[in-house]
Amino acid sequence: MITTSRHTNPLPPLQIGDHTLPVPIIQGGMGVRVSAHGLAAAVANEGGVGLIATVALSLASKHYKKGKDYYKANVKALEDEFDLARKISPNGLIGTNCMVAIKDFETMVKTSIACEADMIVCGAGLPLRLPEYASARPKTALLPIVSSLRAAKLLTKRWLKLYKRRPDAFVFEDPNTAGGHLGVSRDELFKPVHSADSVVPQLAEWSKKEYNDEIPIITAGGIWDRKDIDHAFDLGAKGVQMASRFLCTHECDAHENFKNSFLTATPDDIVIVDSPAGLPGRALQTPFTKTLFSDGEVDKKCFATCLDHCSCREEDITFCIARALHNSQQGRKDDGLIFTGTNAVRHDRIMHVREIFDEIQNGESAPN
Ligand SMILES: Cc1cc2nc3c(=O)[nH]c(=O)nc-3n(C[C@H](O)[C@H](O)[C@H](O)COP(=O)(O)O)c2cc1C
Repeated sequence: MITTSRHTNPLPPLQIGDHTLPVPIIQGGMGVRVSAHGLAAAVANEGGVGLIATVALSLASKHYKKGKDYYKANVKALEDEFDLARKISPNGLIGTNCMVAIKDFETMVKTSIACEADMIVCGAGLPLRLPEYASARPKTALLPIVSSLRAAKLLTKRWLKLYKRRPDAFVFEDPNTAGGHLGVSRDELFKPVHSADSVVPQLAEWSKKEYNDEIPIITAGGIWDRKDIDHAFDLGAKGVQMASRFLCTHECDAHENFKNSFLTATPDDIVIVDSPAGLPGRALQTPFTKTLFSDGEVDKKCFATCLDHCSCREEDITFCIARALHNSQQGRKDDGLIFTGTNAVRHDRIMHVREIFDEIQNGESAPN
């Protein structure tokens, strides 16, 4: 049963830098081609911001020839994805997600700029030099992802000092609910002090007091329906970033097997893995994670040295994360890692992105 939220008005537009979002929803970047042109363009067409995740885009592209030219192929694959996305959504807002911990972070930012990305959202580390890499196009909005007020303050101070530029918005990612790499250590996970309820009001108050609300706070993690968005707004957020909600859509760029995994999963199937990037990651239990947890043999062969620091390559512990994520995106979940937020197990069918936006804009909330 669908219930109606107390706010039945459509969500208000949101200004981020030079861009007006008709609907204050950013689709969270989902790497290794889970969010590529298809999902990003569909979200952009509904008035949100669609993000093409740049990490390892080349793996499923015609540009990548085994073991060779991984980085050059990533550039070409991103250019292709932008062209395709712009064809489907010529007037929508399309940006990229770039991971700081990745070796070609700078190149992916510069390629995003060359492709005239409307926004760049950066996670998995603090993007200390982002304004320098993005300087050729000031119109591109820059949105760092943070997990604390301390990180937001530190980054803003540094950007203002070195580049005389402040972030156009901050995305706060709640490690207790978000999918993929999480911004706190395993020991700190699930502590209420890191949750949106605790951190978003601090960020919102700081932005209001210091910057007259001109650095809007976007909250990510655990946002599923209008009820969650209304709650985020009550905390002081001006927009939301949603990823798990878009996993089971026709437009999501992953294989059907990948999407179908969520339809039968339950909350007990959600696990925390130690990523080779040195961060915990939230994932679905698959044959791959079971092998990992029982110290069985998983593929460790490094094909691109993609991470700046990698506990698989450097210490032979953990596993090759690019390969494992690529396998699942291609539908080979026996050998694959499937990142997920806590909410993704709520999916019960494959929908169109438009249905999700209609539901939210009509003020409807899904059952728990
Ligand atoms: C399958 C999957 C892949 C993700 N990949 C990335 C990524 O490449 N870069 C990144 O910054 N965040 C990544 N994330 C995090 C999301 O962008 C988002 O911030 C987070 O999942 C929000 O929580 P939600 O899934 O509950 O909406 C990923 C999340 C999922 C579920």
